[in-house]
Amino acid sequence: MKVKAKSPKAKFGLPAVFLLCSLFFFVGLFTFTLLSHVSFPQFLSGPRSVSRTLQSEDGEDHGPMPQGETGDSFIQSIPFQVLSWKPRALYFPRFATAEQCESVIEMAKTKLRPSALALRKGETTESTKGTRTSSGTFISASEDETGILEIIEEKIARATMLPRTHGEAFNVLRYEIGQKYDSHYDAFNPSEYGQQKSQRFASFLLYLSDVEEGGETMFPFENGLHMGMSYDYKKCIGLKVMPRQGDGLLFYSVLPNGTIDQTSLHGSCPVIKGEKWVATKWIRNQEDLE
Ligand SMILES: *[C@@H]1O[C@H](CO)[C@@H](O)[C@H](O)[C@H]1NC(C)=O
Repeated sequence: MKVKAKSPKAKFGLPAVFLLCSLFFFVGLFTFTLLSHVSFPQFLSGPRSVSRTLQSEDGEDHGPMPQGETGDSFIQSIPFQVLSWKPRALYFPRFATAEQCESVIEMAKTKLRPSALALRKGETTESTKGTRTSSGTFISASEDETGILEIIEEKIARATMLPRTHGEAFNVLRYEIGQKYDSHYDAFNPSEYGQQKSQRFASFLLYLSDVEEGGETMFPFENGLHMGMSYDYKKCIGLKVMPRQGDGLLFYSVLPNGTIDQTSLHGSCPVIKGEKWVATKWIRNQEDLE
């Protein structure tokens, strides 16, 4: 009688499948591990490899150098993300703590007044009504007994390498629902505003609150977009930065050659839900802050 041989398939089926799967898994894992340590040429792998080449590879610690008279004895790191080169805009996550932000809001609350505008030739308060609808106040670090503004100011100076003496007092602003700031330049164009003793060169915005909806800082001309067409400067378009409590945004209004960066046009989109608090520091190219 013919004994029906059990098919080897049936007998070894499960263990064999298991073994094969394991084999493929380990080969895959090995290949991945290998590849992730190989650096590809930048043009092949894009921004990811840029960040890899910019970050230290092995975490090997090079200690601090002997410092100059005005330098630090320690190494500090202030994380940032390049948001744009046109305009040059940097984003600093968790630049200040939530407690610091709340304190600054408390300081400013009782002093708020409707925000004013620097007027161009021929403009009046009446003709520019509605352009900037926030409330705000100027507070200098020296007025703040808690010392918090001094800490923040010092950190801004380090992040920008622009000395504290070049910064105006903090302009703390509150935007309520519907309030906004139409697109504008922080730098003063001499042909519109007349000759200035110094120029607003860079702006640092510290978001003091989250906003539930709206209230983004927008750069409508980012990377030259929308520049050719007749842009309605009330429109909220382009690169938008969502306010998050404690985060910082730095952008430069003047190019290295001294001309105003046309792409640094920016504004504050209307708050749709919630409330927006922001502390702005304008940094000048001269110590004379006028
Ligand atoms: C300054 O630099 C910008 C951008 O590179 C250029 O378009 C502009 O013509 C320059 N202006 C002067 C006065 O050199």
